[in-house]
This record gives sequence, structure tokens and C-alpha cells, in this order.
Amino acid sequence: MTKKKKNPFSPKFGSRPHLFVGRDGIIEDFVQGLADKDDLHQNTIITGIRGSGKTATLSAVREMLDKNRYLVVDVTSRDGMLVSIIDECIRSGGKWLSDWKDGIDSFAVGALGFSFGLTRKESATTHGFRYAITKMLDELMKKNITTVFLIDEVHNKTQDMQEFAVTYQHLVRENKDVALLMAGLPDAIHDMLNDRILTFLRRAHRVYLKNINRELVKAAYVSEFKTGGMSFSAKALNKAAVATEGYPYLLQLLGYFIWKADKKRIDINTVDQAVNYARVELFQNIHDLVFHNLSARDREFLVAMAKDERESKFGDLTARLNMKSGTASRYRQRLIDAGVIYSSSYGNLAFALPFMHEYLQQQSH
Ligand SMILES: Nc1ncnc2c1ncn2[C@@H]1O[C@H](COP(=O)(O)OP(=O)(O)O)[C@@H](O)[C@H]1O
Ligand SMILES: [Mg+2]
Repeated sequence: MTKKKKNPFSPKFGSRPHLFVGRDGIIEDFVQGLADKDDLHQNTIITGIRGSGKTATLSAVREMLDKNRYLVVDVTSRDGMLVSIIDECIRSGGKWLSDWKDGIDSFAVGALGFSFGLTRKESATTHGFRYAITKMLDELMKKNITTVFLIDEVHNKTQDMQEFAVTYQHLVRENKDVALLMAGLPDAIHDMLNDRILTFLRRAHRVYLKNINRELVKAAYVSEFKTGGMSFSAKALNKAAVATEGYPYLLQLLGYFIWKADKKRIDINTVDQAVNYARVELFQNIHDLVFHNLSARDREFLVAMAKDERESKFGDLTARLNMKSGTASRYRQRLIDAGVIYSSSYGNLAFALPFMHEYLQQQSH
């Protein structure tokens, strides 16, 4: 008996999956922009809902970059980020930073993580983040190394993020060889761009991770399942692709359960069954989180939308909710900013996440 191929689908967060589709353009634009010193892409902000593939895209960029030309500093925006940045520089760029390291006497981190001190031998005074990073970049630039900051889960809530943004702005003005690729949830990015201190980020190139095109999903499924000796009936393939709505997390989940069914010929029943399993996971790992982070009124708005078949007319909603149009507009805008709903054809509203109707119907029981 031949040994079965391991399930290649990975419905987990935070890693680049084996089957990675539909983001080539975004990745190439950024990587190419670095090589061309095209300042349009040099500062890029990726946004998209939970599960749209922000983290996976950052990892893909990281893998594309030539390790001999770029120092990639890959961090998450949380308390202690500045220290992580310096740590990452030393860890990944240590081979280029011998002068820098020789000059340091001590490197102290405050108990809370964000107070930061670096003592240089020659001066015995303690310097902050800007000084430390500037010195590093000077040495890296002498060696023709460009430093690329990848910051995941950005928001403007921490002092570290604010300090980083202000410092980065100076670095750009001083023509340092730096680039910045950030990723965050739509509402976090929205807040950040409206933060007075961080206004310069408004000029950054912005990319919204949309759902993946259906034909791409189909082609990806066909080729991936072929590697396991499996094939789809035409109807089953279409059903599977439609069910994912091109939402990356569901693409992995559904692929995972179809693979697990272990059918040489995948038919409609196999797909239906897999959709049922996938939906349970989807609700647990995405919808519950999204729903519970909303206010009671936001939820009411969504529940009212779920009464419609696919799309909702704003006028119908205000009537259904018995809300003044101005009030309802504010909820609508908030939910759009959070990436939960979007304005579809003719200004109608639709849910951004697959199976949101079903989810909300379960909630109101
Ligand atoms: N382009 C893609 N094609 C296929 N699967 C993807 C793609 N991007 C992400 N995924 C999968 O979707 C899920 C969510 O990805 P992740 O990058 O963690 O999302 P986010 O950071 O936006 O919340 C993961 O299981 C990942 O493997
Ligand atoms: Mg992520």
C-alpha cells in the first residue's frame, strides 16, 4: 500500500499555508518597489478582516526577500515592540553590525517593556530608540543593506507604536534605506490613520485584502487535490469554490475537511459534508470573535440585516430597526470601518464574512 499524502491544508492562523493563492500582485509590488526604490510601495499598509491572510502575506514577503540584501525585522505591534525591533536587528543582522555592537556598553529594558535605554561606551549617556536604530541603519547602509520593517497587528494604542511611527518618519526624512510593511484589522488601521501623531502614514500605499477570485480558488483546489490522487466532479468543484466565497481561512478549512474525507472522486455530498464541518470551526474561530467584539446596537443592526436574503437596503433597515436615519448611518459606518459589512451594488449593504446569515440566525434563537 502506498503511504497517504499528509493533508496539505492548514486552517491555522499566523503561518504561510502550503496553498497560497491570489496575493502575487501585492507581494511583487512591494518587493519590486524595494528594488526600484519606488517610494509609492516603500511604505505599505495591508488591511483586511480576520482570516483574510494578512499574516500569511507578510510571511510570503519575508520569504521573497534576498537575505543578503535585506534585513527583515518582523515584529508584532504590542508592548515591548521597540525592544523586539532592536533584538531582531541584532539577531538577524548581527553579522553586519559588529561596529554597532562594539560601541555598546549596556542595553537596558525597563520593567514594563517600553522604557528603553542604551548606553554607549564613549559617552556613558543613555540613549533612546531613535538613537539606537539610527546608528544601526548607518552601519547597515554602509554595507548596502536595506532594512525592512514588517509589523503585524498594528494599532495606535501602544506608546511603542507611536514612538516607532515618529522615529520612522525621521528615518525617511534622513534618507535612510528603510521600508515599512504593516498589517492590521480595518478598524485598527482606520484609528491609526486618524491619529494626529501618525498622520504621515496616510500617505502610505494601502492595500485591502479582498476575497480571492473564484476561478483561482477552483484552479488551486484542482491542482492541490491532484497531488493526493483526488479529483472533483464539475458540480462539486463549483460548489466548493462558491462556498468559500474566496475567503482565505475558509478556503483552508474547507480544503482540509474535503481532503480528510479521503474520496478519490469528490462529489457534491462530500463537499456538503465538509462545509458542515468547516462552518462549525468558522463560527467558533471567526464569527464568535467578531460578534462579541461589537456593541449591542451594532449586533442589532447585523441581526436586522440577516432578515434579508443577500443584500439589505438601508431604508428597509432603518424602518426595521425603528432608528433615525442619522443614527443608523453611524452604525453603518462603524460596521463598514470594522470590515464587518460593506456597501455592495447600488449602495446596498452586505456581510463581509461568509455564512454570516446562518450565524446570526443561530444567535437570535
Ligand atoms: N492567499 C491565501 N491563500 C490560501 N490560504 C490563505 C491565504 N492567505 C491566508 N490563508 C489562510 O487563511 C488563514 C488566515 O490567514 P492569516 O494570514 O492568519 O489571516 P489574518 O492575519 O488576516 O487574520 C490561515 O489558515 C492561512 O493559512
Ligand atoms: Mg494575523
